[in-house]
Amino acid sequence: MINTINKTAVILISGSGSNLKALIDAVKNNELKLTISAVISNIDTAKGLIKAEKEAIPTICISHKEFSKRISYDRALLKEIEKYKPDYIVLAGFMRILTPYFINQYEGLIVNIHPSLLPKFPGLNTHQRAIDDKEKWHGCSVHVVTEELDGGPSIMQAKVSINDDDDAITLSSRVLKTEHKIYKKVLQLLVSGKLEYKNNDIWLNKKRLKRPIEMIF
Ligand code: GRF
Repeated sequence: MINTINKTAVILISGSGSNLKALIDAVKNNELKLTISAVISNIDTAKGLIKAEKEAIPTICISHKEFSKRISYDRALLKEIEKYKPDYIVLAGFMRILTPYFINQYEGLIVNIHPSLLPKFPGLNTHQRAIDDKEKWHGCSVHVVTEELDGGPSIMQAKVSINDDDDAITLSSRVLKTEHKIYKKVLQLLVSGKLEYKNNDIWLNKKRLKRPIEMIF
């Protein structure tokens, strides 16, 4: 019997949700065979929640402001996520650092998109930092989430060149467009079983990936 049951994911967001929207569109276009079981935000005004509601995806807000300790927040988040028993947790602009406790519950099953060519520029303000450092190239990385902030192995990176007249706004908008192109590709590789995470390495078609898959835009 052919198993046609989709893999499932809970997507975590904090903001505008343009990556979430790109993933929803990819699911609708059949480019991504994934069921988005729920979207959870830590910010109740996150625009991404409205995008999910429009598609009748269950949405939940768990505000971090109601928790004094990071671990208490993560326990509440896990409790909600567990209701959906997802195969993956997809971070799409979720602006919180997750505790090792959280990450270990879903080891190797949490993916994130980060707006830099990791390991360059982990953390915030990546576009300005790339300009300030006079980098020629910038971009984004989809990586497995490990306990090290933005430090898990990268699966795919999109590169864009930095123009002389770029500022953080122009550069971030070009990078964001590439984020929308590569996140769905990585997730489709994952759900199809072609891409695996084992022993801190990424395996593509059973071969260890020595460096991230590179897309140039
Ligand atoms: C993206 O740049 C993503 O790389 C970063 O946060 C931003 C989220 O944007 N982690 P959006 O909410 O998906 O529009």
